[in-house]
Amino acid sequence: MKTKLNILTISFVLAALFSSCSTGKVANLNADLFKQTYKSKGVIRKIDPAKGTVTIDHEDIPGYMTAMEMTNPVADPALLSAVKVGDKVDFEILRDGSDVTFTKFTKIGESAVIDAPTIYAKNCAECHGANGEGQKKGIPFTSGHALDHSEADFITSVTNGKNPDREKHMPAFRDKLKPEEITAVVKFIREDIQKGIEKPKGHAHSH
Ligand code: HEC
Repeated sequence: MKTKLNILTISFVLAALFSSCSTGKVANLNADLFKQTYKSKGVIRKIDPAKGTVTIDHEDIPGYMTAMEMTNPVADPALLSAVKVGDKVDFEILRDGSDVTFTKFTKIGESAVIDAPTIYAKNCAECHGANGEGQKKGIPFTSGHALDHSEADFITSVTNGKNPDREKHMPAFRDKLKPEEITAVVKFIREDIQKGIEKPKGHAHSH
């Protein structure tokens, strides 16, 4: 009688153990299959506290994607204030099914952030106007033939200057600004100052 009871108890316990093990472990294993952490390096380009997202310009993420810019939410809002735009970071992302979140940023350096509006205000506004409206010593960007020129033309004009023999001329900036600063300030003129201004069609000019 005693033995029978023991065997019964043991088998009951075993059954309980087995079932809890199998359901628990298998479920966890399945969840883990869809969760994967990846690491790489990048530069923080944008932090959007309202959306809780960070945009990073990253190197290859081994096993996941090639170098590009991506925007993803952070796992913890504290991560938004842990970094600033221009920081170079080691980062980790967690992919959980189709959700991808940043889970870790470790600052490893800073990249020079080019502040194009300030470069413009300091070097160009005096002659071209604070908003590109033009001044006595310069020409406007918001009307006239400055709308016709390509970005490449603009970069050449700023780098080498224009018509140095004229009293009213465009000075060369190749010794004052780095090439990437010239590119950035030209982009600023194109995308901010000339934003929304319709370019004249078929307006030919020569100079
Ligand atoms: C001392 C005054 C002066 C300063 C400072 C100056 N410019 Fe100019 N810029 C001119 C004048 C004058 C012209 C017209 C030259 C011409 O067409 O002969 C000009 C022309 C240009 C042009 C060519 C536009 C076109 O349609 O041909 C670009 C682009 C330009 N400037 C960008 C800049 C930028 C960017 C800065 C600051 C980094 C700057 N300029 C600073 C006077 C100036």
